[in-house]
Amino acid sequence: MQIVHTLSDLRQLLQAYRHPAVVPTMGNLHAGHLALVKTAKPLGDVTIATIFVNRLQFGPNEDFDTYPRTLEADCQRLQEAGCDIVFAPAEKDLYPVPQTFLVQPPAALANILEGHFRPGFFTGVATVVLKLLSCTQARSAVFGKKDYQQLMVIRHLVQQFALPVEIVGVDTCRSASGLALSSRNGYLNPEQLERAAQLSQTLRSFAAGLRADPSRLAELERQALDTLTQAGWKPDYITARRQSDLQEPQAGDALVLLAAARLDGTRLIDNLEV
Ligand code: PAJ
Repeated sequence: MQIVHTLSDLRQLLQAYRHPAVVPTMGNLHAGHLALVKTAKPLGDVTIATIFVNRLQFGPNEDFDTYPRTLEADCQRLQEAGCDIVFAPAEKDLYPVPQTFLVQPPAALANILEGHFRPGFFTGVATVVLKLLSCTQARSAVFGKKDYQQLMVIRHLVQQFALPVEIVGVDTCRSASGLALSSRNGYLNPEQLERAAQLSQTLRSFAAGLRADPSRLAELERQALDTLTQAGWKPDYITARRQSDLQEPQAGDALVLLAAARLDGTRLIDNLEV
């Protein structure tokens, strides 16, 4: 496995390949990220993981400075997972001059849910993903459904700019308790990690309630919010949306339940397709 930090070194390596399959990440890799690498492997003739903590997608009061940076351990795990190239640019490599051209996704998609609570987040994500797909000459790129809205924004990005990239979504990897794996779980102590499973549990009961009686949606949504609040969480949202565009559902729509909530200051997200 080769580890490169600059665009010119990456371009040099890429001359030997026709179909890069790319897994963009911010590092601090866990089994969820490695599942994306395993999915990417058969899709192309070279598997590239990118590791870059993208300042553009962090708000002023978010955890950009404290976001865990663990390059050495990440590379070890990527090698074991069969990754061929790691592209881990420094900020000055990816943003040698300030990034003044930004990709602004449409408000209907990017200003709701995560975008409502994290203004500018999806502009930061869309901008860096476009740049990373371009740098890596990606022909396939793999993303997790754990970040459901992000995956949708990226699918639209690729469609809108006619990028020659196939986007592949991978199911969320969870711990035995049901907790979705996340780099931010590292902020939790053992007691909090145990409580963190309440987020996916609440989504599962919400889903079970909906399957039993879809007409109770509004009541079940309120109940889910109450459950989390009473368990000491500070939910930003827990809501049922339609899978196709994340808008308020109509009867008969395929649904996805999405949640974001803080547990003692750590903000976690999760979702469940119904
Ligand atoms: P990051 O949070 O590092 O996640 C990288 C990729 O791993 C994303 O596609 C995310 O959805 C996926 N992922 C995270 N946890 C997962 C899990 N438990 N199961 C399956 N997949 C999981 O998402 C980002 O980085 C950034 O926004 C990025 C797209 C790299 C742009 O900076």
